[in-house]
Amino acid sequence: MSPTSVFFLLILGSMVDTKTSSEKESLLYPYGPHQGDKTNPKHDDGTSEEITLSAPFTFYGKSYQTAFVNNNGVISFDEPVRQYTPDPFPLADGHPFVAPYWGDVDNVLGGDIFYRQTTDPALLADISQDITQYFPKSPFTATWALVATWDHVAYYGSTSQKGNTFQAVLTSDSKMFYIILNYWDIQWTTGAASDGDAETGLGGTPAHAGFNSGDDTNFYNIPGSQTDAIINITTTSNVKVPGRWVFRVDDFQVTGVDPAKLNNDCWL
Ligand SMILES: *[C@@H]1O[C@H](CO)[C@@H](O)[C@H](O)[C@H]1NC(C)=O
Repeated sequence: MSPTSVFFLLILGSMVDTKTSSEKESLLYPYGPHQGDKTNPKHDDGTSEEITLSAPFTFYGKSYQTAFVNNNGVISFDEPVRQYTPDPFPLADGHPFVAPYWGDVDNVLGGDIFYRQTTDPALLADISQDITQYFPKSPFTATWALVATWDHVAYYGSTSQKGNTFQAVLTSDSKMFYIILNYWDIQWTTGAASDGDAETGLGGTPAHAGFNSGDDTNFYNIPGSQTDAIINITTTSNVKVPGRWVFRVDDFQVTGVDPAKLNNDCWL
């Protein structure tokens, strides 16, 4: 091979790398103070203020006007959730919530929890395009979204620098209601008060991801929840995008979950 072809192969290689990393970046929708996000107070087991939803959100057939973005990886309706060790679903205590990654986050030790409601046309166009691609039978034009992001959050009792970064997006066109869960970087599963190891953030009762309607029959657990394998949620998906899980939640539908097609190394 001539030196010139080697040179062009090197150039090509670096272009491919650049493309891969920029595609990876796009898993999380934009977030942070420069996007107008609010930041949760630094309190272990804390929550946001009560958020009055500028568009009511329908979850498992019921419409909600308020929500909380809870530090411990949960977005709840009507009431906050401060519990730090996850319980298996269903929790039939009337508390409806989505758990992007329910575990013992400690934002005093590290990281931040951000959220905003938005009608930003550029962001809504991106969200609409993504959902329409995953659910082509029901074209979707978002008119509202709540974007909540856990940015490099530490675990309770941590003696390491580990942090988890993930995001939950609630969105609607006022008729259809969807939740997008984005897992970007998951480094720990368990806080020290949930029998996790203080140095590794592993073991004990690992984090739980899923949906709890508040009754005893309607719920969904993302595969791997409360097992060590939840650390690999960045590699799994129900929409063929590693690290992304998307559900229609007004009349809750499980779509695209075929355990046989999940990466067996991750879950079995
Ligand atoms: C996570 O995935 C990696 C790579 O497939 C695998 O080696 C590892 O065993 C998985 N971890 C768990 C806890 O399942």
